[in-house]
Amino acid sequence: MLLNLLPGWDSLRAKAEQFSEMHLDKLLHDPERQQKLMFSSLEHFVMDFSKQRLSSEVLDELIDLAKQAKVEEKIQGLLSGEIVNKSENRAALHTALRAPSAEECFLEDKQFNKKIQKSLNKMEVLIKRIQAKQWRGFTGKPIKDIVNIGVGGSDLGPLMTTYALKEFTAPDSKKLNIHFASSIDGAQLAGLLPGLNPETTLFIVVSKSFSTIDTLSNANTAVSWLKTAGADEALLKKLHFIGISSTTEKMTDWGIAKSNQLLFWDWVGGRYSLWSTVGFSIALQIGMEGFKEFLAGAHHLDKHLAETPLEKNIPVLLSLIDIWNCNFLRTNAHAILPYDGRLKHFHAYLEQLEMESNGKSVSVGNEDINYRTCPILWGEVGPNAQHAFYQLLHQGTESVNSDFLVAIKRCTGEARDVKESFAEHHSLNLSNCLAQSRVLALGSTALSLDEQMKLSPHQQYAGSQSSTTILIDQLTPYTLGSLIALYEHKVFISSILWDINPFDQWGVELGKSIANKIQPALQGEKLDYLDCSTSALIEQVKRTLAEAEQQS
Ligand code: F6P
Repeated sequence: MLLNLLPGWDSLRAKAEQFSEMHLDKLLHDPERQQKLMFSSLEHFVMDFSKQRLSSEVLDELIDLAKQAKVEEKIQGLLSGEIVNKSENRAALHTALRAPSAEECFLEDKQFNKKIQKSLNKMEVLIKRIQAKQWRGFTGKPIKDIVNIGVGGSDLGPLMTTYALKEFTAPDSKKLNIHFASSIDGAQLAGLLPGLNPETTLFIVVSKSFSTIDTLSNANTAVSWLKTAGADEALLKKLHFIGISSTTEKMTDWGIAKSNQLLFWDWVGGRYSLWSTVGFSIALQIGMEGFKEFLAGAHHLDKHLAETPLEKNIPVLLSLIDIWNCNFLRTNAHAILPYDGRLKHFHAYLEQLEMESNGKSVSVGNEDINYRTCPILWGEVGPNAQHAFYQLLHQGTESVNSDFLVAIKRCTGEARDVKESFAEHHSLNLSNCLAQSRVLALGSTALSLDEQMKLSPHQQYAGSQSSTTILIDQLTPYTLGSLIALYEHKVFISSILWDINPFDQWGVELGKSIANKIQPALQGEKLDYLDCSTSALIEQVKRTLAEAEQQS
């Protein structure tokens, strides 16, 4: 049912009127409220919702709203393999990918787990060969550099996770370098290839459809590069390419040898696929044991989602906070602010997860939706963003909801000789994180009355910007797995309330087909149905390229 037709909608709208007028300063000095809005029901995490503009009574009403939307039944539906992706007539079984055994995979059909284990076992065999220096390039030298070629879900999750978990690199992988190339303009490959040795470079071509032009054009460039370096055409795809896809036919057609093909399935959405063989680069870096820890952390969240009452269910609460901000307080910007340099790519990953899933305006039943859905999400490593866009958060005119994420414990990795300096970094980082959410909430009232009196208008902070603080014990493969699954499930719960299908992405298709039509026009073909702006731009591009050619 549409969100604004649920019985609880009107009462929450009335409450929102009251809370949108109320400054957060009025809410933050009540220890009882604090206790009710801080949750530690999820192992390794503490969630502080007290800097949100609501009371525990509002949260209770939001939980009732979730019940009215049948969130509990729909969670069971997702986990038990119901057809939740109606427009593509399939289930969304990413949770099955991280179940440690058939018994724990929530599905009746235990064959799924067998298939999954089989593909992970094959991935392990390939990984071990690379780690043991038994995978050799066209001159017989062992592989040293691995380039993941993929885009969207075939890039963002693996890139984000390998970057975040570098300090957990498996001993056997220490001498391997993992790189990523995604962009259709070839710029990333162009930057990467001169630093690589073709004799010792392996490309992992990751594409669920194995028809994404961005990925295939990069893969074809890699083939040309290897050929130019003298690799035998008949052999190079066998020695220098692994394919990861849901279609064996297309991998075979492109030339990936059967032995180098890793499978996943059409019931895994691209942006939910890092738990499958798409996580190859992650498993290569942290080793299969580390990868299993990562899966276990995500599975822990699946169990939490399935078994925890809504009142303490963390992904449900995180979603309800989003709904409250977006649909009731009309805050439609959401900043992701990890106070952790290791989570540098986390916001980009979440941008796809959230906006490709929930950036929709048609309901599951194909009705037009007349309320807001997914907010605009962006982010940056918090301390760096302080020196970039926090000005707008503090003194701009937009209302923004933020997630502050920070690990309480930090290990100093291998930099033991500068251990004390790193301890200092960590306490500076923590205090900045806590300071920023405080200032966003309280504004100038974070200062004493005397100090406030001395401020001129341009030094004033209005405050009352809401935020959630997520404290993580420590960033490990396990807790990162949990964190990602937490956001995945939040996105799913929000989709239930918004009555949309989070597992399709029809909004990306038109642009792809129009690009196919524009390419011939750039090469001189006449198209008679173009708009003036695009025609003028095409003409300008053609003129500039022709002039450049004349000059060269
Ligand atoms: O165009 C969007 C999209 O389909 C994403 O959903 C997906 O993650 C990405 O492109 C890459 O698709 P593929 O893995 O099929 O190459």
